[in-house]
Amino acid sequence: AGPANVSPTGADYRADPTTNAQQGERLTSAVGIPLRNTDHSLTAGPRGPILLQDQHFREKISHFDHERIPERVVHARGAAAHGVFEANGAAEGITRAAFLQRGVRTPTFVRFSTVLGSRGSMDTARDTRGFATKFYTTDGNYDLVGNNIPVFFIQDAIKFPDVVHAAKPHPDREIPQAQSAHDTFWDLVSLHTEAQHHTMWNMSDRGIPRSYRTMEGFGIHTFRLVNAAGETTLVKFHWKPKLGVHSTTWEEAQIAGGVDPDFHRRDLADAIEAGAHPQWDFGVQTFPDSEDQTFEGIDLLDPTKIVPEELAPVQIIGTMTLNRNPINYFAETEQVMFNPANLVPGIDVTYDPLLQGRLFSYQDTQLTRLGGPNFQQIPINRPHAPVNDMLRDGFHQDAVHGGVAPYHPNSLDQNNPLPTPPEQGSFIEVPQRFEAVTDRKKAASFDDHFSQTALFFRSLTPVEQEHVINAYTFELSRCWDETIRARQLQCLANVDARLCAEVATGLGLEAPSPTEPATDTATSPALSQVGGQWPVD
Ligand code: HEM
Repeated sequence: AGPANVSPTGADYRADPTTNAQQGERLTSAVGIPLRNTDHSLTAGPRGPILLQDQHFREKISHFDHERIPERVVHARGAAAHGVFEANGAAEGITRAAFLQRGVRTPTFVRFSTVLGSRGSMDTARDTRGFATKFYTTDGNYDLVGNNIPVFFIQDAIKFPDVVHAAKPHPDREIPQAQSAHDTFWDLVSLHTEAQHHTMWNMSDRGIPRSYRTMEGFGIHTFRLVNAAGETTLVKFHWKPKLGVHSTTWEEAQIAGGVDPDFHRRDLADAIEAGAHPQWDFGVQTFPDSEDQTFEGIDLLDPTKIVPEELAPVQIIGTMTLNRNPINYFAETEQVMFNPANLVPGIDVTYDPLLQGRLFSYQDTQLTRLGGPNFQQIPINRPHAPVNDMLRDGFHQDAVHGGVAPYHPNSLDQNNPLPTPPEQGSFIEVPQRFEAVTDRKKAASFDDHFSQTALFFRSLTPVEQEHVINAYTFELSRCWDETIRARQLQCLANVDARLCAEVATGLGLEAPSPTEPATDTATSPALSQVGGQWPVD
């Protein structure tokens, strides 16, 4: 097992009075009163009723009654590990982020997850996987909240409740728990055709990874890096596993999930415990921060599009090693919070409409999930940088603030900190010029929903394509509504005629003709390593 009693900050839990939950040798109440008995309640005689006076009974039962917190509204099932990230300096010229300077080592905490299943669902379900990393940098916490698939279902955050409602279990019987094989899912992705690209990745082997240790990770959105001179570069973030990308077959996933629903979390914890510490290279694709924010005709603000690595190779800027298991699942894996809005100097957002919505959603949900506004003080969420804010009071306030004037400027508290001047490394939003008319309309480039879906399918090997065909056939065979099935087949016809014909045959249906102009991917570059198995280092 990992070293006992080590707190998330690397300190000894027992030496640190703020995190030490188990001091002394005696059993006590929550306020430290020594107890003589915890197995028998205080009763009026050996056969009489329990007395209201029994504070230990009431405290024990009442605390138990409130042990659970709400599971995450998505990504409820997960497993996590501590690690360290070391930058190789390759990003120094494009970002002033302190943790990306050469040789800097930064503690990390990574939580992997499935998206749709509840906390108790099985690990090997066909689904997208979350890959969320917290970097405890010297400039505060930076959260890269990514997935193992490089594109997302939807282009605008306003549809996120809809996609999740459609993909979560049906509200009447709450089945299926964690699979795409149901009417509402196929209804949504065939009506909102922007979801077709992501769905194709789900139906590929990427939807059933062999291990968290063999998954790629993607930041998906385009982010903006800023260097010391204030120059900006657009980037997409990538995690590349040193073990290579490996998946299970559908049959393996079914058997593994049935025999051991904890297949992935066991694999991760066992590997780390055995000293086989998984590693990922961290890389960026870089693009000029041009006025139109496109690259080779690809809209960088559309999260349903990738930029093929042939057009923009991934440059490695550091490596992460996961080397320590959590001590307590609830304290660390369950209570950790990630938020794409947690940015450090040197990294900024773009106006990808999906990312913009995420900047609101995470903090908002965590106010409920983690019981009020002070969840940053939970040990796993505390930065390893000094905190000196003007936030006060609220539920679960652990800090004891001094002074009488928590506002700026003030003439009473001499020790109140002042905002840092920008030149001393504070976070500065990159100024952007706007000339726009408000509307609920996207750029025309967001309308192409099929060409990259086709590009992905045609980049796969024949065996991988067979898996995709089988997955669509199986999952659509579980969609009972004929109109929806036909509509999804129509989408496949717009992607690839052979794919559509084989799925149609499998379902005993006629293959429709395309309604969109055929996608000419002959001239498009193949996607590197997409669906491929990398050599093991
Ligand atoms: C949770 C990724 C889009 C809302 C998560 C988690 C990941 C993730 C990895 C789990 C974090 C953890 O382990 O605690 C992504 C990616 C997205 C995306 C890669 C698109 C590129 C969205 C959008 C919304 C959203 C558009 C809402 C508008 C949430 C919420 C949670 C969550 C509410 C639960 C957070 C919590 O309870 O702490 N997401 N997500 N996500 N996501 Fe997203």
